[in-house]
Amino acid sequence: MLRAGLIGLGAMGRNHARILRRLDGVEFVGAVDPAGDPHDALHGVPVLPDVASLIALGVDYAVIACPTALHEEAGLQLAANGVCALIEKPLAHSAEAARRLVDAFEARGLVAGVGHIERFNPALQQLRSRLETGELGEVFQVVTRRQGPFPHRIADVGVVKDLATHDIDLTSWITGHEYATLSARTVSKSGREHEDMVAVVGSLTDGTMVSHLVNWLSPLKERFTAVTGERGCFVADTLTADLTFHANGAFATEWEALRAFRGVAEGDMIRYAFPKREPLVVEHERFRDAVEGKHSEIVTAREGLRTVEVSAAVLESARAARGTARGTGDGLGDGLAEGGLAVPTT
Ligand SMILES: NC(=O)c1ccc[n+]([C@@H]2O[C@H](COP(=O)([O-])OP(=O)(O)OC[C@H]3O[C@@H](n4cnc5c(N)ncnc54)[C@H](O)[C@@H]3O)[C@@H](O)[C@H]2O)c1
Repeated sequence: MLRAGLIGLGAMGRNHARILRRLDGVEFVGAVDPAGDPHDALHGVPVLPDVASLIALGVDYAVIACPTALHEEAGLQLAANGVCALIEKPLAHSAEAARRLVDAFEARGLVAGVGHIERFNPALQQLRSRLETGELGEVFQVVTRRQGPFPHRIADVGVVKDLATHDIDLTSWITGHEYATLSARTVSKSGREHEDMVAVVGSLTDGTMVSHLVNWLSPLKERFTAVTGERGCFVADTLTADLTFHANGAFATEWEALRAFRGVAEGDMIRYAFPKREPLVVEHERFRDAVEGKHSEIVTAREGLRTVEVSAAVLESARAARGTARGTGDGLGDGLAEGGLAVPTT
């Protein structure tokens, strides 16, 4: 049996607690939260005052689900004591902090994963394997929309680091390509310190065009990913875990006006049937297997670092564009107009 702990018992932590209590091969030995157990998620598992008390219990790994700004401190403490960690997304609040976490876990040969839960969504897993087998032919474009109401509890980062990191991670993962360039605009309408709406346009290393519209300002909750390519378009809805394929028509339409307008003909539409396991359960099973030393596909801390770096480039591009709009541009804004900010590479 592996001994596991949890750090943070809020909206996400309570779900981790629910799964850790039932996970095969794992004993859930304790959780840390200065606020106690506000959601009654522990069912007898002890609540501890700090990370040092959890480490003192003797744990093989811990799940970090405290506010993003505190991931680094908790993670470095675990790594220094030889404890593996599954760290909620985003890996850290800044690229520098994320890099320090990667270095700390890698230097000690410890398993560190990031909770980019969309990778375990059955709709995106289906989509990725269908792209891998070439069902779409050449991929032209990935479009994501992630909108919803304001989460009052998230105050330490803006919507780019909190939500758009899902889109950045899933886009690289389903296509197998990293971000090459991007340009972004943000606004902050809620009166908070950080942005609450972002539009990103960019390209991946193979030339695939991407766009992401992400905000906390919409009463409509949406989790939409569309991949358009040579043979049609896949649409994944990660709220319902549905995957649909809209095929290009193989027949020639005789209605000339319509054909000229649409470019491609509409073909069949298929909604696939597949098993839908809870993504968080799969994420936990994969991480447990990795800690046990088995071959297991997890989101590595290094991949999490890359996603934080891309999110930092999004914020930098938006900042430069605001400067240009105000006539106080520092030169970066001019570059954006010409083709986008180059995403830094590790
Ligand atoms: N994977 C996902 O889809 C997903 C969804 C929501 C949140 N998250 C991530 O999970 C993390 C937590 O978000 P949340 O929505 O649960 O926030 P939350 O505010 O609901 O919960 C945070 C909890 O951490 C506790 N906490 C504060 N300081 C602490 C400390 N020093 N040690 C231990 N616990 C501490 C708070 O008391 C609170 O109970 C964030 O990093 C967020 O980005 C991920």
